[in-house]
Amino acid sequence: MGDATTTGRPETARADAGLEKAGLRLDVDGAVATVTLNRPERRNAMTFDTWRGLAAIGRSLPSDVRVVVLRGEGPCFSAGIDLGMFSGEGEGFTDGSDAEATDRFIAELQEGYTWLRRPDIVTVAAVHGHAIGGGFQLALACDIRVAADDVKFCMKEPALGLVPDLTGTKPLVEIIGIGRALELCLTARTVHADEAARLGLAEIVVPRDGLDGAVGDLVASLLAVNPGAAVATKRLLWEAAENTLEQQCAAERREQIGRLRQLFGK
Ligand code: ACO
Repeated sequence: MGDATTTGRPETARADAGLEKAGLRLDVDGAVATVTLNRPERRNAMTFDTWRGLAAIGRSLPSDVRVVVLRGEGPCFSAGIDLGMFSGEGEGFTDGSDAEATDRFIAELQEGYTWLRRPDIVTVAAVHGHAIGGGFQLALACDIRVAADDVKFCMKEPALGLVPDLTGTKPLVEIIGIGRALELCLTARTVHADEAARLGLAEIVVPRDGLDGAVGDLVASLLAVNPGAAVATKRLLWEAAENTLEQQCAAERREQIGRLRQLFGK
């Protein structure tokens, strides 16, 4: 799949067609990009092309985009992997017999998720209805989750004989802790809105018909903050979990020197 673009260059039509095939839509409006999972008739089930398409969007996002919203069209956010992929429908399907090739293949698909943590953007998942498996992991890959009160998160992979491998295990454990993560994954049970809010899986929970409005308000607040400070603060906060207190203090000083120079022109 080629790089995604909405710049009006000749490759736009090709990129749009590629995204459509991937079940995705990209709308860029100034500093805000909205990525829509767009196969409602399949409950936004995701194919290998979907994950490659997400990676392509990440690679070619216009540099003035500051906030990326991920949402699902139709009755839910996403029903996870398209179950047809398991019957070998997907280009590049692997049975794992070649470990190195499979490792490369999964790494390529994970690129659809990893860019969402980049410090130059803030990513917001607007989640309603089911967010299953790869769909749940996509929400977990975002910085902030806004959920509708009909949200249903489920890490279904172990029930299908698989592990979650689309970058979701790290944020899940960081957000809810190892014990709760084990309980959720190894029972593949569904987490509804109240519990999601309690566990920190959603920062904001609103009635279903208020989801777009709540996301709009959040995006406006995010854009109101100084852009350079937003980038530096996101970088700092993501580093915090890995750093010792000493390293984190040093990181705060380093980022603040950058901010002061920027603000006061030295
Ligand atoms: N893959 C392929 N097609 C799907 C998927 C999927 N994951 N989920 C739904 N569809 C299709 C259905 O087959 C159905 O197609 P049809 O109209 O041709 O019969 C259509 O989407 C609508 O699905 P329904 O089941 O009728 O919709 P409903 O709203 O009642 O239920 C739900 C939604 C709960 C998401 C249900 O479809 C479901 O359980 N899907 C499978 C979820 C799953 O196991 N995903 C894999 C997770 S593991 C991972 O992501 C790695």
